[in-house]
Amino acid sequence: MSESKGLFGGGMTIPALPVRWLYRLASTHAFSERGLYLNMGYWEGARTIDEACEAMVELVGRTAGITSADTVVDVGFGFAEQDIFWTQRFAPRRIIGINITPEQVRVARERVRKLGLEDRIDLREGSATATGLPDACCDVVTALECAFHFDTREDFFAEAARLLRPGGRLVLADSIPTGPDLDPWQHPLQALMGGLARAALAVPQANAYPRAVYAVKLAAAGFESVQVDSIREQVFPGWHRALAQDHEMRRRLGPVGWALGRIPEAGYAPFDYVLAVGRKPGTEAVK
Ligand SMILES: C[S@@+](CC[C@H](N)C(=O)[O-])C[C@H]1O[C@@H](n2cnc3c(N)ncnc32)[C@H](O)[C@@H]1O
Repeated sequence: MSESKGLFGGGMTIPALPVRWLYRLASTHAFSERGLYLNMGYWEGARTIDEACEAMVELVGRTAGITSADTVVDVGFGFAEQDIFWTQRFAPRRIIGINITPEQVRVARERVRKLGLEDRIDLREGSATATGLPDACCDVVTALECAFHFDTREDFFAEAARLLRPGGRLVLADSIPTGPDLDPWQHPLQALMGGLARAALAVPQANAYPRAVYAVKLAAAGFESVQVDSIREQVFPGWHRALAQDHEMRRRLGPVGWALGRIPEAGYAPFDYVLAVGRKPGTEAVK
């Protein structure tokens, strides 16, 4: 425990499961049937989990304004499905992927090699908060459904600001709470359940803050034109419906699918899902 506020102090502080363990356990059980996507999907106009996963990736790529002149650093890339999609759709000059789970990096590298894209997509094992990449090395940083795991998300904001050239863009699709933590003295059972869920899903408590705080932290890291928009209505209802109705999807996910399928729609009420954007001040030099 990092703080000594007692078991209930400042929300329920229960140490998070190491994130590598979580994804080692998940192995190659992916959400999508086609490819190995691990995002909950953007469901506006999508009928299947595959369409929704791709729509989420498209949304992040379009919001980042990826062009053929851009070098992209994509952290938490899962099996690099999104990097393959962006390369085929937007043809960026290069994508450098950073992922903390070695097993995923191995599988992803093999997928990229089979597609002959190794010279366009460079996948590395490492942490989003300490990438080891040089200052001002890229035009776009993306974090698709992963920053809630980082230790901490705020450290990642600082790392992204360091990596970006002036005028560069940071885009995240991220899940956060809708409000501040419940007072554990007034709601001990819910606070305990919330703390346990967070720990099991490898989410440090330091990342549990709502939209307004998220925007303040992005600005404090040096970003301008910050926007943190809720897209929860385009994510959670469709995801919940798919889990309830798509037996194949539940089967693909194994025991995790069984457990997720038991969450009632009201179980998503404390959670927001945001599309967050920030721009590093300055004018981009001619590349
Ligand atoms: C929910 S998955 C999302 C994967 C992918 N973005 C997708 O949407 O298919 C979260 C990913 O974040 C990665 N991750 C978690 N913590 C990380 C960290 N500190 N640095 C880099 N990657 C991390 C995990 O290994 C996993 O690939």
